[in-house]
Amino acid sequence: MKTKVLFFMLVLALRADSPAQTSSQPWMNTRLSADERADLLLQQMTLDEKIQLLHGSMAFDFPKYPRPERALGGDGFVPGIARLGIPDLNLIGAGVGVTNLGKRPNGQSTPLPSSLAETATWNPRLAYEFGTVIGKETRDQGFNVSLGGGNDILREARNGRNFEYHGEDPVLAGKIIGPELKAIQDQNVIADIKHYAVNCQETDRMGVSSNLDKRALRELDLLAFEIGIQESGVGTVMCAYNRVNGIYSCENDYLLNQVLKKDWGFPGWVMSDWGATHSTVNAALAGLDQEFYESKFFSAPLKHAVEKGEVPSSRIDDMVHRILRTMFAVGVIDHSPVVQPIDVKGGAAVAQRVEEEGVVLLKNASNQLPLSKSSIHSIAVIGSHADVGVISGGGSAQVDPVGGNAFPTPPPPGPLGFLSVVVWDPSSPLRAIRSKAPSAKVEYNEGADPASAAKLARASDVAIVFANQHTHENADLPNLSLPDNQDTLIKQVAAANAHTIVVLETGDPVLMPWLDQVSAVLEAWYPGARGGDAIANILFGDVNPSGKLPISFPKSEADLPHATIPAPSTPPKEPTEEELNPPPALIDANYTEGLKVGYRWFDAENKEPLFPFGFGLSYTSFAYSELKITSGSQPQVSFRLKNTGSRAGAETAQLYLGLPPSAGEPPKRLVAWKKVQLAPDKEETVTLKLDPRLMSIFNVEKNDWELVPGDYRVYAGGSSRDTPLTGTLSVASGKLP
Ligand code: BGC
Repeated sequence: MKTKVLFFMLVLALRADSPAQTSSQPWMNTRLSADERADLLLQQMTLDEKIQLLHGSMAFDFPKYPRPERALGGDGFVPGIARLGIPDLNLIGAGVGVTNLGKRPNGQSTPLPSSLAETATWNPRLAYEFGTVIGKETRDQGFNVSLGGGNDILREARNGRNFEYHGEDPVLAGKIIGPELKAIQDQNVIADIKHYAVNCQETDRMGVSSNLDKRALRELDLLAFEIGIQESGVGTVMCAYNRVNGIYSCENDYLLNQVLKKDWGFPGWVMSDWGATHSTVNAALAGLDQEFYESKFFSAPLKHAVEKGEVPSSRIDDMVHRILRTMFAVGVIDHSPVVQPIDVKGGAAVAQRVEEEGVVLLKNASNQLPLSKSSIHSIAVIGSHADVGVISGGGSAQVDPVGGNAFPTPPPPGPLGFLSVVVWDPSSPLRAIRSKAPSAKVEYNEGADPASAAKLARASDVAIVFANQHTHENADLPNLSLPDNQDTLIKQVAAANAHTIVVLETGDPVLMPWLDQVSAVLEAWYPGARGGDAIANILFGDVNPSGKLPISFPKSEADLPHATIPAPSTPPKEPTEEELNPPPALIDANYTEGLKVGYRWFDAENKEPLFPFGFGLSYTSFAYSELKITSGSQPQVSFRLKNTGSRAGAETAQLYLGLPPSAGEPPKRLVAWKKVQLAPDKEETVTLKLDPRLMSIFNVEKNDWELVPGDYRVYAGGSSRDTPLTGTLSVASGKLP
């Protein structure tokens, strides 16, 4: 008996951190689960206090919306409740680094390479480091919610926000964003995944309806979110501006209640994109938990709806519980941020590694690259302000880089002009190239006049043309051609010098009418804080490129599923400060290609892409052999991978499956991969376990995944179009383990 009492006292002592505090505020007991703590706290809250947590405002001065008291000047603010120890929520954008739209005095952060560059690494461990930089810098600036996490599948190659997203394949996108978001939350910062769902174009984004069949939605667009959420435990999902199959994302019962909360069991909260809430009762009942940023619907109107019985108070409790349990689970209550200077060097080092692994070598005729540091006497560096920096993506993901904009220009006029300002990260390729080849004459030409650039190229051993395509939120590209006469520039330089190398800094794929005339092409995406150094390391072979394309590059726009982007017949009027969100046009984007997204489209339609998904060259070569396929309840595939060249390098070995014809799928889908580092002549057995979920199709009638019995074609190799190993995997039963 005595021992029992002692044991009981010991348990009590262990559970209670600080007895005084936990007796007055029992929810502060860290031994309880996040859900238990949220429930205890909820019991103490008045209806007004609950409603207070369900809507947030802008957090910097914005037309009509002055910055609220205490707000840190990020993108959003929800005042906490001091009497209960609930901290303020300070939200900040961070798709590719912490942003500074409101121009906080200490708001410069590490500009990471774009999410497409991150995804092109095919390296989940590096994605974790990418997220760690974001999480730390968010916390160091006092914020506790991060609004990055863009994960809409690339259905529209001209989309202005593809650089924030993770490419065209749901498994790759999910498996890269998962560790990124987990890393953010490991820093006690709540992460977010967005824009749920199918926010694939910016044109008329407030009114367009993304229409597609449920099977395609579940197998592609939503699967990217499902995997990302599962792998990260991310705390919030941001519903999108657009409608999906006719219903606004933020009042879409199917998306929010049925799929996200019921089928996936998501325990966190759904916040609306800024101005994406369109109703009170509808949205509340459909699963929206928090409105940003105008507080039109989830403030007093929500309270009235509860009082009138239109929204049950149990639903309000559910919304608040979701917010509080996430705050406890991620640690924003127990470990509030401490403001301190960011680790500039540490952030830049990660940015550089991501870029070095994310750059994709697209062409390298006659081993033009790597450049020799000693035998080249003169180099012409041309275009894209390569003397001072590298371009970055714009919009609400725009980072204010440490060191400032290397080539500042005034923002376009209008209240939303800040979304399209162009920022050049101050990492000069010219300087980095000069330091690689100190005895060579390295000269710069800005590229505005193709004839003068060609003149410099003619007088040089090698010409390196930096070409850019700026993309940003709130606009799509008119087409996939390089803007500003850069195709002419490249053609004229290539005509003047047979050793012309093109370095692309782009947010979307580009057409390359000059491809046959140049000797090498690097896709460097938006290169980030140390882009210049990373690119120079690759050009001179200090780093062997290992990036692989996370998106297909088409030969022409006619080869895309849609020749043009749906747009209103009369262009929407420019917003005024008075009317920031003029009524949108209710137009349709009909994604009739359904399951045939990206490489699935090119495969199914027998079209040759310019560069296929998964493609990327190296300065060494790899050979694949000895495919072994193990069927049964734990299917796996293994093969030998050998570095057959003379340099160390990394290969991302990819595994695709072709489902049995009865499944009605495009020819193949990515199911697994491994990035392997190999010294020259070394080889390794690569074993890839198959996840039956990723082999399945979505049965809309049963609302469930289904493994189709039959013979699966196995393809292994270095890209979706280069699979030297093929075989067959038999699946006997349709049961998912
Ligand atoms: C964007 C979101 C962003 C929000 C807050 C919106 O315009 O669509 O992605 O998180 O602004 O900055």
